[in-house]
Amino acid sequence: MFMGDTYMVDVHLRGVVKRFGKTIALRGIDLDINDGEFVVLLGPSGCGKTTTLRIIAGLEKPTKGKVIFGNREVTYLPPRERNISMVFQSYAVWPHMTVYDNIAFPLKIKKVPKEEIDKRVKWAAELLQISELLNRYPHQLSGGQRQRVAVARAIVVEPQVLLMDEPLSNLDALLRVKMRSEIKKLQRRIKVTTIYVTHDQVEAMTMGDRIAVMSAGKIMQVGTPWEIYNKPANVFVAGFIGSPQMNFIDVTIEEAQDGINLISSDFTIKLPQEYISLLKDYVGKTMILGIRPEHMYPIGYVPASLQKKDKIKGIVDFVEALGSDTIIHLNTGSKIIVVKTSGTYRPKIGEELEIVIDLDKIHLFDKNTEKAII
Ligand SMILES: Nc1ncnc2c1ncn2[C@@H]1O[C@H](COP(=O)(O)OP(=O)(O)O)[C@@H](O)[C@H]1O
Ligand SMILES: [Mg+2]
Repeated sequence: MFMGDTYMVDVHLRGVVKRFGKTIALRGIDLDINDGEFVVLLGPSGCGKTTTLRIIAGLEKPTKGKVIFGNREVTYLPPRERNISMVFQSYAVWPHMTVYDNIAFPLKIKKVPKEEIDKRVKWAAELLQISELLNRYPHQLSGGQRQRVAVARAIVVEPQVLLMDEPLSNLDALLRVKMRSEIKKLQRRIKVTTIYVTHDQVEAMTMGDRIAVMSAGKIMQVGTPWEIYNKPANVFVAGFIGSPQMNFIDVTIEEAQDGINLISSDFTIKLPQEYISLLKDYVGKTMILGIRPEHMYPIGYVPASLQKKDKIKGIVDFVEALGSDTIIHLNTGSKIIVVKTSGTYRPKIGEELEIVIDLDKIHLFDKNTEKAII
């Protein structure tokens, strides 16, 4: 809970287009964010995440479309009339001010009474665990501490919407993991509607209630981390989420007597009867088969619970022994298939392997639209 009332608000983007001269940064963004929700905008560099966030903040005006907070349209309102706070990648703290004054600054601008400022600064500092640093100057702080100051300053005004643009990307890996869970817990506690931008899929999966995956100015899919991983809507999302990346293999669909054959240049996978109706429009055509490395198993490492399965063969081309996992690059003839398995298994390069595929976990995409069919 916030100190006083909770000011949550739902946020809606309607057909937002943004052009910068000849560059089309956003090609029609529609997004509904519930009050109190933590939504992550995820996508590669240049896909339009920051532009989307700046339009929500009011730092940028859309070329077309609307921004709505609750039932109030805010498309053309300046940032100060939106009740938002923003945290940037660079630790934008003022070097000549103490931590206390940095956090107090936005309240001073709003002419909040001194005692109220003091109460709120201490509240925010405690939440971010920087109470003992209030008298220090930014140059006496680590990067992580400075970013905590920036977050404290953002929440001290009790914004309706908290916007964060890659706030952890300047921190070292260990600190990033720690801050990830701290920001998430903080958000749960104060329940502020939060929109968080990152290009890091692990950050998105661990922090977001929902993730909006973006590519080239468009939203490719919005869903919970579970949906984005298990039910990717298209080839882009399927390939962007998951590490190592999903394997993509062109296959021709052929109807067999008691099922469907997926015929690739290197192997044939047989799907049971129930797939016939799902794939009947694709018989004779090429589709893209998607299999995640973690849904294939060397013989001896196949879970007993696997129900529908088939096998492929190949030669071990390369092995990445990561300790907890072993990543096998399997040459199936004309393609390399990546398989993720237990770290205790260490096959030799050149060895022939049989790999069992969990057919319940495969994906099939339309080759033209790249949309998921299965
Ligand atoms: N002020 C600007 N002027 C011109 N082009 C811009 C401006 N801001 C962003 N762009 C362009 O818009 C696209 C999206 O940028 P951005 O939203 O910053 O992407 P991301 O944050 O996902 O990396 C990019 O092609 C970028 O070069
Ligand atoms: Mg950006």
